[in-house]
Amino acid sequence: MVRPFARHYDSIYSDKDYESDIAALTKMCGEDLAARHVIEIGAGTGNHTVRLARLVRKLVSIEIDADFAEMAQLKVQDAACTNVDFQTVPLEELPPFDFDGAAAFFNVLNYIAPERRQSLIEALAARLKPGSWFVTDLWNGELVLLDPPRPETREKKCGMTSVRQEITPVLDALAGTVRLSYNIEVEQKGSIERFTEELTMHVWRLSELTSMMKQAGFSDIEFRDRRDFPAAANEGSWHVWMRATRR
Ligand SMILES: C[S@@+](CC[C@H](N)C(=O)[O-])C[C@H]1O[C@@H](n2cnc3c(N)ncnc32)[C@H](O)[C@@H]1O
Repeated sequence: MVRPFARHYDSIYSDKDYESDIAALTKMCGEDLAARHVIEIGAGTGNHTVRLARLVRKLVSIEIDADFAEMAQLKVQDAACTNVDFQTVPLEELPPFDFDGAAAFFNVLNYIAPERRQSLIEALAARLKPGSWFVTDLWNGELVLLDPPRPETREKKCGMTSVRQEITPVLDALAGTVRLSYNIEVEQKGSIERFTEELTMHVWRLSELTSMMKQAGFSDIEFRDRRDFPAAANEGSWHVWMRATRR
């Protein structure tokens, strides 16, 4: 049974603009994707997956959370995306491959604990062709530590579904984490489902990420402000896009 957070994810994030993420990716990778073989890390419920699949020749998409993977696979099937090879194993366990590009949307790197950072980036570098690209968005660690997320309540309506999401963040600056506790209420057809979800976001300082990427074989690492895209990231950019080129 898929847990409620994954089952209701699309209602909880119904205001997320997936099209603009795909537009940012196509701008940042700077090439026509029609002939490209691309890998997506962290498919979630597959909202980027089905959009990206329409642009590329072939897409390998990875999601390691079984509940999200189940939701994403259903979406890929419903959208008849026959060029998607869906995987539920970590990138490090995928066979070697020469991808033309890689994407990870909506803070996937912030899910990666420090002890796995190096191996993930090396595994990615090992599967990308020379000259290929990696595009992702993430929290800017320097700014998160200065101005951590605050408690908030989000309420939204998606068709006949109403969502109320209370978010309680707890920063542990020494550990470099922000623990996000969600209390969620979803009302559908007169019945209310209440559930919780806990996420640990790992803070990456962009300087640290840059040197790790260079060491693994990436170059031309650039950051852009996510809110003011395509402007270059600046000292006030809390959320950024990164593009790196595989040497
Ligand atoms: C915030 S969600 C984003 C999902 C989707 N891209 C979206 O925007 O709706 C991040 C996803 O990355 C997945 N994830 C985290 N670490 C991963 C890894 N090492 N490999 C594959 N997926 C991972 C999580 O399970 C989670 O579903």
